[in-house]
Parts: sequence; structure tokens; C-alpha cells
Amino acid sequence: MENKILKIGLLTSGGDAPGMNAAIRAVVRACTFYKKNVLGIMRGYEGMIEGDIIKLDARSVGNIIQRGGTILKSARSKEFRTPEGRQEAFKHIKKHGIDGLIAIGGDGTFIGLHKFFEEFGIPSICIPGTIDNDLAGTDYTIGFDTATNTAVEAIDRIRDTALSHNRLFFIEVMGRNSGYIAINSGIAGGAAAVIIPEENMSFDQLYAMLGEGGKTNRKSNLIVVAEGSKIGGAHALAKQVAERSDYFDIKVTVLGHMQRGGSPTYFDRVLASQLGVGAVEGLISGENDCMVGIRNKRIVYNKFGDVMYKHHDIDAEALRIAKMLSI
Ligand code: F6P
Repeated sequence: MENKILKIGLLTSGGDAPGMNAAIRAVVRACTFYKKNVLGIMRGYEGMIEGDIIKLDARSVGNIIQRGGTILKSARSKEFRTPEGRQEAFKHIKKHGIDGLIAIGGDGTFIGLHKFFEEFGIPSICIPGTIDNDLAGTDYTIGFDTATNTAVEAIDRIRDTALSHNRLFFIEVMGRNSGYIAINSGIAGGAAAVIIPEENMSFDQLYAMLGEGGKTNRKSNLIVVAEGSKIGGAHALAKQVAERSDYFDIKVTVLGHMQRGGSPTYFDRVLASQLGVGAVEGLISGENDCMVGIRNKRIVYNKFGDVMYKHHDIDAEALRIAKMLSI
């Protein structure tokens, strides 16, 4: 069944992620292919509220597939969380004749779009774009692969200096509620331990693993800590270890927003292209109020209600491997 959508509004919202531009390009070019108009809504829901809307065509998304960030810019809009804000946004959607919406972002983006659909009935699809890979209903989110590669490169560099000085490093990676970047960069970077929000490791357990050099015979240790660790971030953990022992020469590196920038990997570009096309084809064929995802290399459509408040479970096998190899 093909519905009558003619003009699609496209936005990026929440934390930017490498590969968002590749997804924008894919959406715009798929729209061109299917003879649909597409408008870019700037700065996520903020631009929707303010009517900051531009025309996009196949040429205006040239030369962006390799660029980090998002040409549509992004924001975390507080106003869109209010009924008044959404009402204001709807005025502009109506004025521009937008009859379908595609939003690229994370869970906050989905919740906003779901509410907007419930209130105004505009057919909507979200594309998962966040470095955190924390969204249920898709094996991967756009940006996760690039961010993890960036983290691994940083860990490799830190390893050189850590070893030269026999130092214990706490390296903090992003992930407010998610250990995906930590666990994967920890395995790939050969970390001695990985601390993630999804696992209840106590500080005593961590301290025992460090073993004051005696048990492990390690000259230096790299500990990868996810931002959302329940026993404290990298600085807090370093402080606790220092308070307990003066054996270690401890340093801390917080990788921070550098993980969000940079040119997307081939994986993220391909993923973004698949999801972008999937979103347009889904919307045209009547999929609605849902998130397009990739499961076992196939495009799937998940109803918002089924995935919105669900956490993408941490890969138990990856965790098992990380522990086994970090002896
Ligand atoms: O959701 C992506 C993310 O990078 C998280 O890993 C991090 O906690 C958060 O965004 C940081 O957000 P902001 O850039 O708004 O500080």
C-alpha cells in the first residue's frame, strides 16, 4: 500500500553522531528517487518550533557523506517537551505542507516524535542516530562504530605512554546509560578492566583486580570506564584508588566529545545509507509511528511503543570475552 505523502520534513535531534550526514543524504536522495519533496528542519525540534525550515535537494546533500556532525544542526529542545511547544511546531509543519516526518536521533528524539504523532497525526519514522548504541530494536545505531574506533585509537596512544611510565590509566568513554562503547573499545584496546553502567561491579572488586601489581604482574593498567559507571567516573575511581594505596602512579583521560566528531567509518556510512532509504521507503509504504532499525542485516520497523523506553541490552558474550581476556 502506498500512501499519499508528498512532502517530508527531515531533522536531526539530540547528541550529534558521525554518519548523520550520510543518513541525511540517503533520505534526501531516496525522496528524489521516489519523487517526494523534502524539507530540512534546522536544529531539531527547536527549528520546528521557530519555523527554521529549508529546501533540500539531491545536490544540496552532495559532498557530505564523509563529514562528521550534521548539516541540519542539532539541539535538545526543552520547549518541544511542552504541549505549547509542540502546538507551535505544528503551525510551521502545516504552513509548509509537510505531511510526513523523519527524525534522526536517540530516545529523546523518538519520544518527542511519538508525542507529536499522537497529537497531530503526522506520519513519522525515526532513524537511530547516537554514538551510545543504546536503542532497542536495532543491532547498531549510526555513529557507534565511528565513536568506538575513535576511542580505540585514543586507548592505543595512551597505552604507549602508560607503558613507558608504568602507569595506571583510567580512560573515560561516553555512555550515560550505556556500556557499548566501553565494552567494545575495552576489548579492542586490550583494557585490564571495563566498568559499565549495566554491570554491578563494586569498587572492592575493581581494586582486587588491580592487585597492586603483585598478582597480575602487569607493568601498567588501562581501565576503560563508561561515563555512566555506577561506582564513579574515571576521576572518582582514580581518587578512590589513590586514597587506598600509593602503589600506583595514576593518570586520568576523559575522551569526551572528541568521540562524537570526525569522519564516519565505512560501516556507519553504509548503515546510515541503509537506514535513510529504509525510512523513506517505510514512510511511503505506510509504516508509521516507528523506528527503522537493522536486525541481522535486514531493515526492520519497530513500533515506538515497543522500543521507546527499552534499553539495548549489553552484549553478554562481549562482556564475557572482555573479562576472560583481561587477566
Ligand atoms: O547520547 C550521546 C551522548 O554523547 C552520551 O554518550 C553523552 O552522555 C551525552 O550525549 C552528552 O550530551 P551533551 O553533548 O549534550 O553534553
